[in-house]
Amino acid sequence: MALVNIGGRRTEDGGRRAEDGGREDAEVLTERSEVAQFLGQFGIEYERWTPAHDVAADAPAEAILEAYGREIDALKARGGYVTADVIDVKPDTPNLDMMLAKFSREHWHDEDEVRFIIEGRGLFHVHPVDGPVFSITVEAGDLIRVPRGTHHWFDLCGDRRIRAIRLFQDVSGWTPHYTDSGVDKGFEPVCFGPAYVARG
Ligand SMILES: [Fe+2]
Repeated sequence: MALVNIGGRRTEDGGRRAEDGGREDAEVLTERSEVAQFLGQFGIEYERWTPAHDVAADAPAEAILEAYGREIDALKARGGYVTADVIDVKPDTPNLDMMLAKFSREHWHDEDEVRFIIEGRGLFHVHPVDGPVFSITVEAGDLIRVPRGTHHWFDLCGDRRIRAIRLFQDVSGWTPHYTDSGVDKGFEPVCFGPAYVARG
């Protein structure tokens, strides 16, 4: 179940620099309907694909794409996506830090960023044009569609593990355009989950 943190977790420096009306007390949304409604204001679609298909953790990408074939086809029809693949990242993935560095700076794409999480977790930060930054912690079963042009950045969680289906309108269009705003430096890449909520 995805979790939204409105205001995100600012770094010390980011807290001092709060230029975009960021609040001191972050508001955390955990209810599915609240999460979907909040994200919907920014054109971001959030769904749960349940029940998730039973796919072995070590299943090859083709098996995952086949298991989720019906859902993928429906999404393709809705969003004009033409291809799907599976990204598989583990702590021992070669050049992981270099790979992650490409996406942990504020950027946007010429096409939607569509991810269905099979395993692991990840953290999107979204920087709306006219509102404070918020973060979305996604985990297995979460489908997220971030519309083209949305300013965002992405980090893994502490376990540095994610396996996700990606859909593309045009593979060549999916390159990051960096804003170089530096806004990302004001936020900690902290994933939120049940433990955080329980601590209040
Ligand atoms: Fe991105």
